Amino acid sequence: MKKIILDCDPGHDDAFALMMAVASPEIDLLAVTTSAGNQTPDKTLNNALRMLTLLHQKQIPVAGGNQKPLMQDLMIADDVHGKTGLDGTDLPDPDFEPQPVHAVELIAETLRNSTEKVTLVVTGPQTNIALFLGVHPELKDKIEQIVLMGGAKGFGNWSPAAEFNIAVDPESAKIVFNSGIPLVMAGLNVTHQAQILKADIEAIREIGNPVAVAMAELLDFYGIYYGQDKWGFDGIPVHDPVTITWLLHPEYFTSIKRNVDIEVNGTLTRGETVVDQWNLTDKPENTEVLMDIDREKFVSLIEECLHAFD
Ligand code: BDR
Ligand code: CA
Repeated sequence: MKKIILDCDPGHDDAFALMMAVASPEIDLLAVTTSAGNQTPDKTLNNALRMLTLLHQKQIPVAGGNQKPLMQDLMIADDVHGKTGLDGTDLPDPDFEPQPVHAVELIAETLRNSTEKVTLVVTGPQTNIALFLGVHPELKDKIEQIVLMGGAKGFGNWSPAAEFNIAVDPESAKIVFNSGIPLVMAGLNVTHQAQILKADIEAIREIGNPVAVAMAELLDFYGIYYGQDKWGFDGIPVHDPVTITWLLHPEYFTSIKRNVDIEVNGTLTRGETVVDQWNLTDKPENTEVLMDIDREKFVSLIEECLHAFD
């Protein structure tokens, strides 16, 4: 059983990562922490509570994190995720309270209480993780690895060079990528292949349980943004659950191990994940960069997870 903490900013695709983490018998979801990103921190926290309420998981401890990125003002993605951050369906009001501690302290307490090492899955900006590493360096060895959605090799989606999660808080990403903790990066190279097509949405809706119906409605909304001509996608790239999919089925992927660092100064490239393709820096290969995914197996896994709520 893989023990994980999910640090997320729900967010439509974060909601899929949460759903899969809850549904998978191979994963033990120890805690959920939320970051400011897709929406303001109060909304992403409330969305995590609403999702876990839908999933009947009020025993999972949840804590909200930092109000803003380390160095810059918060940028939100309400054009993607709407004014609630999870527009498109009527989620239940939360039927439980968050823990009365900062995300950093919930991560610390969870690691301290675990007899085994824990994987951090990060599907939003990396502010909470950077702060955690600064406040609790003594617990770094309790982290098995960090599996994150963020970045890309060679392009961006928020700016030409930067992917959203890194662009929101490049300084935090730099701390995480230079932490020495083994990293797995599910960036846009792979998540743009993790597309859900219209026919897949209908298959999800037809599963028919309340979770599947809500997730199909979330996809209906999320698809409006990614249906714009500029992207040229056949379907909707559902980024964040690629992390959970890799934990469950690394054989669905191809990947390369490289040094990755974060550009924080560039006027055009701030927030870029700089991948050292030819080992020009002689720096350690700190990151497994995921490159390709078997799309059909990815979608089947999502459907299989949704059947857990029948
Ligand atoms: C990332 O940004 C957010 O909008 C999504 O939730 C995902 O984590 C994709 O760039
Ligand atoms: Ca996210």
